[in-house]
Amino acid sequence: MTAKIIYGKRIAEEINKNNAQNLNDLVSKFKIKPNIVTIKIGDDTESNIYLKLRDKACEKAGIISRHLEFPYNISEKEIIKYIKSLNSDINVHGLLIQFPIPTNISSYNLLNTIIPKKDVEGLNPYNLGNTLIGNENLVPCTPLAVLKIIEHEKINLEGKNVVIVNHSNVVGKPLFLLLLNRNSTVTICHIFTKDLKKYTLKADILIAATGKPNLINSEYVKNKSFLIDVGIAKTKHGLCGDIDFESVKEIVDKITPVPGGVGPVTVACSISNMIKTYIYCMRT
Ligand SMILES: NC(=O)c1ccc[n+]([C@@H]2O[C@H](COP(=O)([O-])OP(=O)(O)OC[C@H]3O[C@@H](n4cnc5c(N)ncnc54)[C@H](OP(=O)(O)O)[C@@H]3O)[C@@H](O)[C@H]2O)c1
Repeated sequence: MTAKIIYGKRIAEEINKNNAQNLNDLVSKFKIKPNIVTIKIGDDTESNIYLKLRDKACEKAGIISRHLEFPYNISEKEIIKYIKSLNSDINVHGLLIQFPIPTNISSYNLLNTIIPKKDVEGLNPYNLGNTLIGNENLVPCTPLAVLKIIEHEKINLEGKNVVIVNHSNVVGKPLFLLLLNRNSTVTICHIFTKDLKKYTLKADILIAATGKPNLINSEYVKNKSFLIDVGIAKTKHGLCGDIDFESVKEIVDKITPVPGGVGPVTVACSISNMIKTYIYCMRT
C-alpha cells in the first residue's frame, strides 16, 4: 500500500487557529500587540524566503514583526550591543537571530545574550538547559514542529526506535531531547556515522535533516515506518527533501512531503513561541 502523505499545512492550520484564539484573548487583556524583532546579518536568499513566510504568518496572526538588518561586516560587539538594548526595551516582546550569520560572529555569544524570556527560538543556553531536564518552556521551532506532526498522527513515542539524521544545535540535538523526554529510544546519526543504514533500518520513526537530496532511499527504511523529512535543498527540479519519495512510498506507512511538510508547521510553531515570549514579557 502507498504511504499516507502527512501534509503540514493542515497541521499548521490547527496550530494557527489555536494561536489566533489565544492571541485575541491576550491582546484584549494586555491592550498591546506582540512586537517581535528579528536580527538579520547579511543577505542570505534562503533565509529571506523563510522570513517572508514568517512575516506573512505574523501579519495574519496580528503580531508586529520587524527586522533589524545589518551588513555582513558588522562586528559581534556591535550586534551584542543591539541585543542588550532590545532586551531592556519593554516594547519588544521577542527576539530572533536569523541564521546563517557570518562565520566571524559566534552564534553562542549572540544567543547567550538574548534574555531567556524573549528567546523566541528557544536556543538560549538557559532554555535549552530547561529542555534537557524536561522543563519544556521555549523549545526550538523545527524540533517542536516534528513533535507536533508525530502527535497529530496520535503516535505514542514511548519505547519507539527513533533515528535522527542531524546533530545540529538547532534541529538534531533539541529534537533528541524532546523525544527522550517522551521515553523513545533515540539514535542520532551524522556525517561521521559509519554505515548509516545499519541505524536507519531499525527506525520506527526516521527523521532526516541533512539537506542532501534523496539521501534516504528504499535501502535505508524499515517496513511500515514513519518518515519525517526536514531537509530542504534547492535543486534544478525545485525544492527537494532528504528522502527519495518514489523509492520508499510502497515500503513505509507515513511520510511528510517537501515542500509542504515540516516547513509550514515550523512557521506555526514559531508563532506559538512568539505568543509565549509575549506572555512572559507582559507578566514581568
Ligand atoms: N523544514 C523546516 O522547517 C526546516 C527548518 C530548519 C532547517 N531545515 C532544513 O533542515 C536541514 C538541516 O538544517 P540545519 O540547520 O540543522 O543544517 P546543518 O547544521 O547543516 O545540519 C545538517 C546535518 O546533517 C548531517 N549530514 C550532512 N550530510 C550527511 C550525510 N551524508 N549523512 C549523515 N549526516 C549528514 C550534518 O552532519 P555534520 O554537521 O557533521 O556535517 C548535520 O548534522 C537543512 O536542509 C535545512 O534547510 C528545515
